[in-house]
Amino acid sequence: MSETVRRSDDGESERSAVETTAHDADDSETPVSPPDPDGLPLLGNVHSIAADALEFYERRAAERGGVARYDVFGTESYLLTDPDAIRRVLVDEHDRYVKGEMPREQLGTLLGDGLFLAEGERWREQRTAMRSAFFRERVDAYGDAMVEHARGAAADWDDGEVVDVHETATEYAFSVLAESLLGDDVERERETVRAAAESITERFDMRRLASFLPEWIPTPANRRYRRRLDALREAIEDLVAERRAAGPAADPGAADDLLGTLVAAAELGALDDDELVDNAVTFLFAGHETSALGLSYTLHALATRPDFQERVRREVTAFDDDPSPAAVRDCPALTAAVNEALRLYPPVHSFFREPTEPVTLGGYRLPAGVAVTLSPWVVHRDGRWWADPETYRPERWLHGSSSGEVSLGDDTPGPAVGERPEYAYFPFGGGPRHCIGMRFARQELRLATATLLRRARLEAVDGELALRASANTRPAGPVRVRVHELVE
Ligand code: HEM
Repeated sequence: MSETVRRSDDGESERSAVETTAHDADDSETPVSPPDPDGLPLLGNVHSIAADALEFYERRAAERGGVARYDVFGTESYLLTDPDAIRRVLVDEHDRYVKGEMPREQLGTLLGDGLFLAEGERWREQRTAMRSAFFRERVDAYGDAMVEHARGAAADWDDGEVVDVHETATEYAFSVLAESLLGDDVERERETVRAAAESITERFDMRRLASFLPEWIPTPANRRYRRRLDALREAIEDLVAERRAAGPAADPGAADDLLGTLVAAAELGALDDDELVDNAVTFLFAGHETSALGLSYTLHALATRPDFQERVRREVTAFDDDPSPAAVRDCPALTAAVNEALRLYPPVHSFFREPTEPVTLGGYRLPAGVAVTLSPWVVHRDGRWWADPETYRPERWLHGSSSGEVSLGDDTPGPAVGERPEYAYFPFGGGPRHCIGMRFARQELRLATATLLRRARLEAVDGELALRASANTRPAGPVRVRVHELVE
């Protein structure tokens, strides 16, 4: 099987399989079933996952290898941590898999048939209609707002104060996404969107026992969640009606904001009205907490590495004006700082696929309909691919060239480096369903980090970061950093 990296019009690299002879590439030996899951009757391994999913995944992979069986309430599940097998699932053989039951059970009532959960032809049509909204020049247009919101989020930092950078980052990512989604209409609907975003975050907070209860059980949190989500959907429906009345953009990529993209895609017939609203909610869910986590971890990690922080600061204080998307793309140390934070603390610790037919992975036969878990968390910490894997070492992303240092890994989920397989790094997933917001997110992280480092020096307060798995990789408490104002 071979694979090419195809450059699309906007320069975005998309991995695509060019031959499809690989279906049996892993079938050379007679496939067998992986060892039993070793859990409790009915519950399976739920107790270990609820106690500490990140630790469970790491331990299971260490004990059982690249394809490790576990069970969740009777669902046969396989943790896949072999990069070549991951590539087969996401890229070479992506057409043999769907997202499946696992994410739909957790997120179905929230995300409906939006891009994140849609399957088959419905997914393809939506993705094709929306992709131009994430081309480089479109994403560049959000740059000024990103810088302005980074300033705003840190406006009340005082010299010498210990701040929770997760709070700052959450405010930042929320403001950026709300404005990118709704454009000028954000002022009117900010509180509705904020309330819904908070409820979504709360709903998936695994520290709360109620998060494990189905959504239809009328707990106070569930009722609040439903009410706020209904209010969000109604607000979006009203805005859509207004925009239609005003005459939407003819081309999804020409719209001023993401809602405009969705309205234009609906006019082209790529979305129906329910899917349009589902997608607005999808962007809010998929693009807000993930970016906030990425920024929190980048800032925390840089605080622990004052020397490298200084190196990044030298890059970003060299601009005369505010950081621009093009200027920060040319900052190798800044890019390396972000790449490495997404390696050590991937905001999405794992995600799922389901084979639609029996498949063979790593020499094991997996039946159709099982849950396949792909875990950036485990693979990014695998000592076979990463020297000193638990240490934040942004230098590993920098490589000398005749024109100076360059940082790899900007526009693809993660290139192979030397002996390292390509899918040893995949914070944004991979293949046709890789994160559509990848470029947007990387730009957000770079512009915010640049803006904040121009303003302040960050000093570590706590050493180790305590993390816990929820839908995303969340901090267990505040992410504390002492800020020292720099005189401009
Ligand atoms: C650091 C920030 C982010 C990370 C780590 C991240 C990670 C991911 C990952 C791992 C996937 C693949 C899931 C799968 O294959 O099952 C994904 C998909 C997706 N992401 Fe992101 N994401 C981030 C930011 C964003 C932003 C800013 C947006 C929107 C503006 C966004 C929108 C989406 C959507 C819509 C999908 C589904 C794509 C599809 O299935 O075609 N993400 N993301």
